Amino acid sequence: MFPDLAYVSQTACSNIINHSGTTKESTLAENNNFTIHALELGPMENFIYLLHDHSSDTAAIVDPAWDVEEMLALADEKGIRITDILLTHSHHDHVNGIETVLAHTDAQIHLLKTEARFWGKNLVKPKLHHGGDTIKIGATDIRVLHTPGHTPGSACYHAGSELIAGDTLFVFGCGRCDLQGGDPEEMFSTLKRIKSELPGDTILHPGHNYSPAHPTTSMDVQCEGNPFLHFDEQQDFIEYRMHVHDRIRSTPYEAVSKEEALKSIGR
Ligand SMILES: [Fe+2]
Repeated sequence: MFPDLAYVSQTACSNIINHSGTTKESTLAENNNFTIHALELGPMENFIYLLHDHSSDTAAIVDPAWDVEEMLALADEKGIRITDILLTHSHHDHVNGIETVLAHTDAQIHLLKTEARFWGKNLVKPKLHHGGDTIKIGATDIRVLHTPGHTPGSACYHAGSELIAGDTLFVFGCGRCDLQGGDPEEMFSTLKRIKSELPGDTILHPGHNYSPAHPTTSMDVQCEGNPFLHFDEQQDFIEYRMHVHDRIRSTPYEAVSKEEALKSIGR
């Protein structure tokens, strides 16, 4: 079980300033006033997030799955009301706690329209989004990014300087593209866009804890050491993602230099 990580957004500083027992606190983006709590739950190292808006004491739960009761208990304990469920994508390990959350709250489900079509599940009045939409939790704005590649309607959620990335981008890794609906060409474009459009001090919150020494990092650190961000040519990325990576690398992930990544595909 990974400890609850709480990222408190108050000032422009990305250092973790306090680590006592099971809670880490960090001060992050200015002009935002929210906290991201993270719990690692289930047998697949999934991260379940709670984005808590301080002004309203309401929150969105992101990818509710596995022992999601633990997150409900955490919200209860802190006096937080869960008003929304945000899905990064529809894979079982990210959604199998939805019913439990709905049994305890009247939360609104959000996902991309493309993912809802791909999934084909009958959800209770879901709010279907397009990339570029904004979801409001109290006074906190969350921007919805459409990031296809792992699934057709994968989403990342961007608030302040924080990026909740689902299975699109992991710390020193990225989501598989060989499952149904996966597409390495799309993933290449998605990662290129994330790399070029998000500031280097953006903090990545991945969908799985595949690099336990670094549960989160900045995009600057990812651009330096995430092998999937090292390829300039689409064909090289596809070769690495689809044929090389899983043969030569396993978790826990650590940084890989650009030179090492290119060498692994014979460049
Ligand atoms: Fe997934």
